[in-house]
Amino acid sequence: MAQIGQDIKQVIALLRAGDCVAIPTETVYGLAANALNDDAVLKIFEAKKRPKFDPLIVHTHSLEAVADFVQEIPADLYRLAAHFWPGPLTLLLPKKTRISDLVTSGLERVAIRIPRHPLSLRLLQALEFPLAAPSANPFGYISPTTAQHVADQLGDVIPYILEGDAAEVGLESTIAGMEGDEVVIYRSGGLPIREIEQLLDKKVKIMHHSSSDPKAPGMLKSHYAPTRPFLIGDIDTLLRKHRDKKLGVLSFDRAYVATNVTNLILSKSANMNEAAKHLFAYLRALDKEQPDIIIAEYVPDEGLGIAINDRLKRAAAQ
Ligand code: TXA
Ligand code: MG
Repeated sequence: MAQIGQDIKQVIALLRAGDCVAIPTETVYGLAANALNDDAVLKIFEAKKRPKFDPLIVHTHSLEAVADFVQEIPADLYRLAAHFWPGPLTLLLPKKTRISDLVTSGLERVAIRIPRHPLSLRLLQALEFPLAAPSANPFGYISPTTAQHVADQLGDVIPYILEGDAAEVGLESTIAGMEGDEVVIYRSGGLPIREIEQLLDKKVKIMHHSSSDPKAPGMLKSHYAPTRPFLIGDIDTLLRKHRDKKLGVLSFDRAYVATNVTNLILSKSANMNEAAKHLFAYLRALDKEQPDIIIAEYVPDEGLGIAINDRLKRAAAQ
């Protein structure tokens, strides 16, 4: 069983030896290994049961370090990096050959991010290599926002989980890149698109997911899925329709009380940051109750609500 703790020295030793270790970030917990060591990176794919066509994000500690791994940073993306890193933003940049095809699934661009969790930043500064890290969940399941979430699912297959409390943001990073001279968002996430547009003072293009033919890997529609059947819609209507069943209800700001219902409220004060922080933990908690069906509603489509609704939609996709 994985040890949970804050022994950075031990984590450094494990990573140097080519092991993979779970680390906290401000978005979700990551399953990290030496990004420059293919054997170590392979362990990530094995532990997550992740298909090799789904590339990994490379995490590092500074813009200077990023220059070691990418050929260039286009001006718009540089502005984003300088302003939002460390933070919940991932950039797709043309890779240098030091980054192997295993990490990028053979793509020309590598996904890079500087996370802002203090423990992991310290870890990255202490290491002489960057860390490849996907979210620390089995492929297709809900991302972990606490060390315990990681232990529940990957505790048997990794040696150590670096304890860093509940993730501050609770949603994976927003992924951006360039197509021609346009800034494109490939995944909405913990950095609201509005803030990116404000900084650049222009609109960005938003890529939409497709179920069968993802334009970019990782845009697969079915993702973040609980094990129980999951429906999204008007909660009152769904409650009436399924009144004879045991239900888990994930609501935005209102309470639902009934004998057949377990209700978790994302944010009683309708605060979108709080809702984002609770989303994955509450989905997991409801799933654990093993209801017949989990019912949820979309939140207002603004700020982090856009990414919350994206995750809900993908959790409901079969
Ligand atoms: O917040 C986050 O981004 C977390 C923390 C741990 O940093 N990481 C994370 O990783 O969410 P993961 O692997 O669960 O999701 C990364 C997404 C995947 O959908 C993957 O397909 C996409 O990024 N991606 C990675 N490298 C890519 C590349 N070179 N080109 C296109 N998409 C890429
Ligand atoms: Mg993931």
